[in-house]
Amino acid sequence: MENVAEKACELKKTFFKVFGPGAAPETVFAPGRVNLIGEHTDYNGGFVLPCALSYGTLALGRKRSDRKIRMYSHNVTHLGILESSLDDLKAYESDHFTGYVKGVIWAAEEAGFVCDTGMDILIWGDVPNGSGLSSSAALEVSVGLLIKTLFSFEEMTQPQIALLSQKAENDFMGMQCGIMDQFISAMGKEGHALLLNTGTLTYEHIPLVLEGAEIVIINSCVKHSLVGSAYNDRRNECETALDRIRKAMQDGTLAFPASGKLPEGLCELTPDEFEDAAAVLKDEILYARAKHAVYENDRAIRAAEALSQGNKELFGTLMKESHASLRDLYEVSCAEMDVLTDIANSKEYVLGARMTGGGFGGCSVNLIKEGYEEQFRKEVGEEYTAKTGKKPLFYACVPGDGARVIKQ
Ligand code: GLA
Repeated sequence: MENVAEKACELKKTFFKVFGPGAAPETVFAPGRVNLIGEHTDYNGGFVLPCALSYGTLALGRKRSDRKIRMYSHNVTHLGILESSLDDLKAYESDHFTGYVKGVIWAAEEAGFVCDTGMDILIWGDVPNGSGLSSSAALEVSVGLLIKTLFSFEEMTQPQIALLSQKAENDFMGMQCGIMDQFISAMGKEGHALLLNTGTLTYEHIPLVLEGAEIVIINSCVKHSLVGSAYNDRRNECETALDRIRKAMQDGTLAFPASGKLPEGLCELTPDEFEDAAAVLKDEILYARAKHAVYENDRAIRAAEALSQGNKELFGTLMKESHASLRDLYEVSCAEMDVLTDIANSKEYVLGARMTGGGFGGCSVNLIKEGYEEQFRKEVGEEYTAKTGKKPLFYACVPGDGARVIKQ
């Protein structure tokens, strides 16, 4: 979003047109994200390294005197105002973006943050849907912050907003995502990437500066619509693999890891410990999935070090390895995304390119040498279109702040 304050001001006028005159609405913004590395590690207790984007969701809301929740999206205006109630916080097939709004209100209520009146809510966002840049997390987190602001839930912290949003996605929307997207949307910092240990939720902001290099995001324009079911399958496979390893440790077939504790997630194992444990998996697919998680976690840790040390070559190499592993072991890429990353990785001015997000389409993240952006856009754009018939979209990666209240 070029100018959040300006857009907010414009949307305030729309708010009054849609919902009628009355008290001024509160306004909040929550960003989408790009993950630099550490993919499919966040539900295995591993590290991720995302940054928040300048693209995101604005949510405007004011309290009502009854228990109705009236929702309007300025992105899908033809839907008009969609109505629900605090007494009907259930998911329906017919839910649109409203499922995310109700889901967060529901999750907050489950955690003891009870909205005592209904509300009018207007939503608008510029994270492209289905692009793997977390439009849904931006929406969820914006609703979380909006209700915190409207109902003065002082004790609701930003990490808690992330957790409530994840609960909404998991238990209301039925998508078993990890915590990465919601956490970075709530906790991003301008100019920084966030190294998050998803096992402990401890984190560190690392300046996103790789001297002489820049990051470019490309949308393959393949919507990752399959992501829901296939994503949940991957998650189950990782859980089964972990279960087998833990059982073998408990019955003495396998030594405990160096930590001396039963692992709570696959990423608690080092690559060496994992290779020692691999025999108990007795299944090629489980081995491949678990191997990706363990080695990707290791790559995320090394990439964060490389970032701190300004080692852009190593960072790029790890990105390439990450993509190969997501494609071959985790099998969450798709033909077009492989074409896109292959083209990028074949350029001598590209340090590394990989898919980002859940997979099955969406975006790639590319680390390129400074001064080559125009050439990159032209060459990769033309070659990708020639090979797939699709026209890619390019986005700037400007690491921004996490969710915040917009005063107006
Ligand atoms: C989606 C999920 C995240 C994470 C990524 C893959 O974006 O929402 O929790 O698992 O996929 O890294």
